[in-house]
Amino acid sequence: MPSLSVFGAQWGDEGKGKIIDLLARGADVVVRYQGGANAGHTVVVGGTKYVMHLIPSGILHSEKINVIGNGVALDPLALFAEIDELTGRGVKIDGTNLRLSSGAHVIFEHHRRIDHAAERWRGVGRIGTTGRGIGPCYADKAARTGLRLADLLEPERCRVRLTAALAEKNALLRDVHGEEPLDLDQQLSRYMALGERLKPYVGDTGAEVRSAYREGKLVLFEGAQGAMLDLDHGTYPYVTSSSTGTDGIAPGAGFPARWIERVLGIAKAYCTRVGEGPFPSEDKGPEGDRIREQGREFGATTGRPRRCGWFDAPQMRYTLELNGADGWIMTNLDVLSGFERIKVGVGYRMGSKRYREWPASLASFEGLEVDFEELQGWNDDITAVREYAELPRAAREYVEWVEDRVGVPIVMLSVGPERDQIIPRRDAPQFHVLA
Ligand code: IMP
Repeated sequence: MPSLSVFGAQWGDEGKGKIIDLLARGADVVVRYQGGANAGHTVVVGGTKYVMHLIPSGILHSEKINVIGNGVALDPLALFAEIDELTGRGVKIDGTNLRLSSGAHVIFEHHRRIDHAAERWRGVGRIGTTGRGIGPCYADKAARTGLRLADLLEPERCRVRLTAALAEKNALLRDVHGEEPLDLDQQLSRYMALGERLKPYVGDTGAEVRSAYREGKLVLFEGAQGAMLDLDHGTYPYVTSSSTGTDGIAPGAGFPARWIERVLGIAKAYCTRVGEGPFPSEDKGPEGDRIREQGREFGATTGRPRRCGWFDAPQMRYTLELNGADGWIMTNLDVLSGFERIKVGVGYRMGSKRYREWPASLASFEGLEVDFEELQGWNDDITAVREYAELPRAAREYVEWVEDRVGVPIVMLSVGPERDQIIPRRDAPQFHVLA
């Protein structure tokens, strides 16, 4: 099974970091192909917490190759802050185990500034972005005014292109947003110096990954954010600016779509969302607060409290189908321990109209209500359970009921943040996707 795509099947923060770290043991190459430092992938090893924003979660295994593909919006300052932090904690990172695509677009200071400024203009329509400059960087990429890592490595080219870009951005900052413009010389010297430091890591990673695949190496693609934040298929305009699912791999990594052999979705046993936008199964009452407390649901990148709610079965069917998932992994099942009743969304209502599937064609989700069904909860702490049969009966019934509603097999369950807090489902028909 030489290539595997792992993606977030909800609104991000599904616990992908831990799962990628786990699956990376059997992989040779781990590839990020979209997003940027807006992501926060958390891995806990022996009580020590590592949060990766840009660097693939395979980095904690020293012998693996980690790739940041051309589809990533790369902030060199964020990258080096992360490299320094991880190397300071004993993680080995150099140009042999971390490879950066020369085609990745660079996030500059002006992108971060414009990200914040644009949010202020949106008023009630604000998206609640992470403020990392992601949207403005991708906008420049599409407008063909962006700079790629390859441009940073060539001082003369960098000078010409950054001068032109900054002339426009400074006019925007000054005349539209009423902010101080950025100093060209300062920006040039900062980013040219960063380009120098980036050199050992940069190459044609598309060719490197394809060649590894042809040699029979196992390539693991690490999606960031979640399918409901996908630029095209998510809850637009409350989305991020990239293709967050399996469909982002071909353009974002230079890897043919036909070579992707297995696809796994990751989803929590409930739902969360950070930032604004539709979240039909959100629980704004005390039970939502309780999920937040028990699940420690605060953003890994911004520290914001996450909005919490219940598992939404049609939403999950939608994202698993869109991405062609063979199976999925349910995370944070332990967080539901202690709830007397557990709700699951099974359909929607808008006025007199009913929807059994995710109503993707709606322009606005305002007023969309969820039909819930309730299942029996369980009281036992399940964080030490490692075998499926040892879970309380009500927990197994919950898992199997949800799996049946979703129609795609759950191949693994996660019951805590540590690497070993995993319950394989050996009896799941698609368990071999991990073999
Ligand atoms: P942006 O990606 O910073 O432009 O933010 C757009 C939307 O995506 C906001 O609602 C963010 O909160 C959300 N978002 C971006 N990255 C993540 C993530 O890694 N996890 C969860 N939400 C995210």
